[in-house]
Amino acid sequence: MGDPVVTAHARRAEIQRRANVIGIDEAYISLLVDEFYRRIRADETLGPIFEEAIGDRWDYHLPRMKSFWASVALNAGTYSGQPVPAHKKLSQVEQSHFQTWLALFRQTLQDTAPTPEAVDYFMERANRIAESLQLAMFGFPGLPVKRQG
Ligand code: HEM
Repeated sequence: MGDPVVTAHARRAEIQRRANVIGIDEAYISLLVDEFYRRIRADETLGPIFEEAIGDRWDYHLPRMKSFWASVALNAGTYSGQPVPAHKKLSQVEQSHFQTWLALFRQTLQDTAPTPEAVDYFMERANRIAESLQLAMFGFPGLPVKRQG
């Protein structure tokens, strides 16, 4: 079993090491988030939804998203927020918008990621989180769920 503090520390270090091997670090996450939301804001469907919800708070939202992705991808532990209520209050969001979000995220990764493995690493996590957000918002995941057995 071992000391839980040591174990958590070792686990974080191991996750960071594996991510670093495929080129993922805080510097890349910062670039990814900046570029992704630049494209989101230019998107004709998603742009207006984000502008309405975020308005002039982009200076707050972007660092928050960087710490979210550092926590998801590097186990950084710096993000504390509640994505489910943040999305539930967005009444204009339709389930099909998630496909647009995910396609933009994939394209941004394909254009910027340091390695092909980094694309898969982020997409795996984004798909999983998108599914759970859709489940919370619409009571239904939008992507096919792999079934066991
Ligand atoms: C159709 C898809 C989506 C739309 C339209 C959307 C829109 C938004 C908006 C407008 C906000 C700001 C809410 C506010 O501060 O008032 C937000 C926050 C956030 N979004 Fe999304 N989002 C989408 C999908 C996703 C996905 C797939 C993820 C993760 C993989 C994600 C992660 C987050 C996080 C972490 C926050 C910050 C929540 C907080 O801590 O306050 N979003 N989103």
